[in-house]
Amino acid sequence: MKNSPLRYAVIGAGGIATYHLRDIGSQPSVEIVGISDPADPATWRVAADYAAVPRFQDAEKMLHATRPDLVSICTPNKFHQPLTLLALRHGAHVACEKPMAMNVAEAEEMEVARAAADRLGGINFSYRNVTAFRFARELIARGELGRLLRVNTVYLQSFLGAPATRYSWRNDVAIAGFGALGDLGVHMIDGVRFVTGLDYRRVVGIAQTLLPEKTDAAGIAHPVTTDTNAAFLAELTGGVVATFETTQVAPGYGNFFRIELSGERGTLAVHSDHNDELWLRIGGLATHHATWKTDIPLQKIPTEFAATGGPTTPGAIVHAIRGRQVDFPTFADGLRAQRVLGAILDSMKTGAWQTLA
Ligand SMILES: NC(=O)c1ccc[n+]([C@@H]2O[C@H](COP(=O)([O-])OP(=O)(O)OC[C@H]3O[C@@H](n4cnc5c(N)ncnc54)[C@H](O)[C@@H]3O)[C@@H](O)[C@H]2O)c1
Repeated sequence: MKNSPLRYAVIGAGGIATYHLRDIGSQPSVEIVGISDPADPATWRVAADYAAVPRFQDAEKMLHATRPDLVSICTPNKFHQPLTLLALRHGAHVACEKPMAMNVAEAEEMEVARAAADRLGGINFSYRNVTAFRFARELIARGELGRLLRVNTVYLQSFLGAPATRYSWRNDVAIAGFGALGDLGVHMIDGVRFVTGLDYRRVVGIAQTLLPEKTDAAGIAHPVTTDTNAAFLAELTGGVVATFETTQVAPGYGNFFRIELSGERGTLAVHSDHNDELWLRIGGLATHHATWKTDIPLQKIPTEFAATGGPTTPGAIVHAIRGRQVDFPTFADGLRAQRVLGAILDSMKTGAWQTLA
């Protein structure tokens, strides 16, 4: 019904849930109808601003009781697929966290179910919101750098190496599916595809677990079964070579995600933690380069992104549900990234390049 508010519910009340609630729940004519998480509600990490929202410990009961039009899935990775299927069965559109699923088969099943239910599905590739990434995408799409020659991407964090960081589901491969590769690598995989407009033709990778164990809050040690470090190489459309490195244990790096690329006319770098800045190097000789760092907020540059009002993830799906033409990361994008992750894992088993269809 055109004028009735969009009924919105969240499954999983941890750290990321607050971002979904803020981005989706703050939009005009959106009513937050419920939050569900099996843990004791007293322990939920979701912001206190949402304390008045009806709370449930059973997702199915919440879906029955609240009949949402849109559901965010903010749980550990293992539950993305079953809870997405559940929400679709209840007739809701789905905004799911990344990585989309534990493996390609699950992600395919989610996309098939979404299409059969005729609902929309979004994956929260949140770095598509970084203004500098969007601006770089526009520059490249307009051919300002000329033909692309190379791409290098790093996503470095330190949190897992810190003794204060407790053992969690993120360190258990049976629940997380991946370590740095799936948690951070999936952002790099989607980010490069988003910024360059190029897709993956073949990949080869390696991953390691450099931290044998972590202790939980009770001081009990558990083995870390996920990768803490991963590196991979990709050939993109047109033969462009892209290199990737990610880690959760690089001291001194809080959250550093950088995409650097060169075209015939210049080298450009964008950083997740410098939302409004873009580094550009031009000139033919190493000793005669110019480095340009913008000192005006990129948000103020009249790009297509700014002109369209700049819907972000995960909230852009609300615009799409309301029939507006918006570019947001869909289940198809999530599935594509999952296929690249799957191919990297296959290459680690076989020691050989894996081709993507
Ligand atoms: N897009 C991003 O940049 C970004 C950033 C952080 C986390 N994430 C993703 O968000 C998801 C959750 O991460 P987080 O940091 O919020 O974790 P978290 O540990 O803070 O919270 C997870 C919550 O899910 C709950 N939960 C566990 N099993 C559940 C189930 N079956 N049904 C409902 N709730 C369940 C837990 O009790 C917990 O409250 C992960 O998939 C993660 O990869 C994405």
